[in-house]
Amino acid sequence: EPEIITDKNQMRKWSRAMRSQGKTIGLVPTMGYLHEGHISLIKEAHKHTNLIVVSIYVNPGQFSPTEDLSTYPSDFHGDIQKLMAIPGGVDAVFHPHNLYDYAKSKPTGVNNNSSNCENSGGGEPERKGVVSCVEERGLGHETWVRVERLEKGMCGNSRPVFFRGVATIVTKLFNIVEPDVAMFGKKDYQQWRIIQRMVRDLDFSIEVVGSDIVRDNDGLAMSSRNVHLSPEEREKALSINRSLSRAKSAAENGQINCRELRNSVVQAVNSAGGRIDYAEIVDQETLEAVEEIQSPVVFCIAAWFGKVRLIDNLEMNI
Ligand code: PAJ
Repeated sequence: EPEIITDKNQMRKWSRAMRSQGKTIGLVPTMGYLHEGHISLIKEAHKHTNLIVVSIYVNPGQFSPTEDLSTYPSDFHGDIQKLMAIPGGVDAVFHPHNLYDYAKSKPTGVNNNSSNCENSGGGEPERKGVVSCVEERGLGHETWVRVERLEKGMCGNSRPVFFRGVATIVTKLFNIVEPDVAMFGKKDYQQWRIIQRMVRDLDFSIEVVGSDIVRDNDGLAMSSRNVHLSPEEREKALSINRSLSRAKSAAENGQINCRELRNSVVQAVNSAGGRIDYAEIVDQETLEAVEEIQSPVVFCIAAWFGKVRLIDNLEMNI
């Protein structure tokens, strides 16, 4: 059974005690509602460190007031069962109730009826869209980590507060858990690259490991949000992986024109009934868009199916 730790000081104490015994610690940050994608990160982590800490925390700092914080799925007890079934298990689960110091008296964020943040406060509606659910609840927290260029494209366009929130919460988790290694899935490719870059730029003494995407048998990339897809939406969503795979074959067969490749994927997802947020072919390291495939790229896509926004990607090493 993993040790379940909810207090951040307790968490740091646990880690320091283990490290003083010479153990190395791997951290797998998650927002819970665990699936095989998360489990594969944990199995991969076992190859790197003696002990594994899984954090389960739905971070309000990476959700804007119009996003799905209040409907994000959770099942803590189910998650613990899944963790106990993993060979080698996990050593500690960090499950804090809240990692932000909200001001109790004077919330300064957004207050409108469309807010999906829990316990939202009052404030300045004009800031809607550029504030997270943390500001909305009041400013007891004002320090944010930004990876300035990498956070701008792709998911950063439609989710302007997202990567700032991710980089900040991951920094907090790094400071609390003090891991040797941290695991991230390539499913969230931009997130993985941003964390790698942040660790390099800010001299965290942590190795960031990227782990391959885990898919269901039908090819859909596993995601906690898939639970919100109707069977029909799920069927439509298969167009993402199918069209990406076709694009990859086309590229392998000599089609290196990215506009053509993108058009074919956009077409396929649109005609399946999805609504494309973005479909971009970018350099694997810099995430800059490329026009012709000359070096390793990754084809990244985000699309809506009903009320669910899905992301996926495929590396093309040509
Ligand atoms: P979450 O969506 O729960 O994902 C936790 C980790 O699991 C991330 O590194 C993600 O890339 C990885 N993951 C999710 N689905 C995967 C799949 N199908 N295959 C492989 N890996 C997968 O990402 C977050 O949480 C948050 O942004 C977090 C990093 C925890 C910060 O709050």
